[in-house]
Amino acid sequence: MTQDELKLAVAKAAVEYILPKLEKDTIVGVGSGSTANLFIDELAKHKQLFDGTVASSEASAERLRKHGVTVYDLNSVNKIAIYIDGADESNEFLHLIKGGGAALTREKIVTACSDEFICIADQSKLVDVLGDFPLPIEVIPMARSYVARELVKLGGDPVYREGVVTDNGNHILDVYNLKIVNPVALEAAINAIVGVVTNGLFAARPADVLLLATQDGIKTLT
Ligand code: A5P
Repeated sequence: MTQDELKLAVAKAAVEYILPKLEKDTIVGVGSGSTANLFIDELAKHKQLFDGTVASSEASAERLRKHGVTVYDLNSVNKIAIYIDGADESNEFLHLIKGGGAALTREKIVTACSDEFICIADQSKLVDVLGDFPLPIEVIPMARSYVARELVKLGGDPVYREGVVTDNGNHILDVYNLKIVNPVALEAAINAIVGVVTNGLFAARPADVLLLATQDGIKTLT
């Protein structure tokens, strides 16, 4: 199977995984990116089974609405039962790098509000050590250069993702050449830099389940 076929397979598997959990009042958290887009298309086929969604990006919200799926503002929702989203990398502990699509902050907020976080990915995303994928950091625009200098002190090589403005009006730095052996500690250290909104490490709150599409079928990692 091609990578695109693997993404579609895991999107379908995610819908099968959550179908038994859906009730009339269930709110589903929906992530961003190409795998999440395929999930949205599959989820929409079952929109009568649940109440609605909270989306982690404007792009996902728009795609959901086009399918006729209700999208709630997070502030009007008490509880998100399940959050489904892709990742750029995962290790065996389900610590993730996310933010390739610049939606990391809203993704982390929706993760924090969700009872269960199911990550969906193709096999290329599973790695031994996080960090081959450059770590995205969302920064307040006026702090970009300061934050970049602080990231160099942590051993990384930050690059400004020119032309990209997040849904929150901020900028993204992509940090190269980090070998992330302690994701929990690095997540906290980067978030402690003044001017950082958040970083793309999902380690303090990793995924609960990783559905991984491989050439041998869907694997479920917990
Ligand atoms: C969006 O900001 C990201 O966190 C995505 O979840 C991640 O980049 C995965 O995207 P793909 O499913 O397109 O690989």
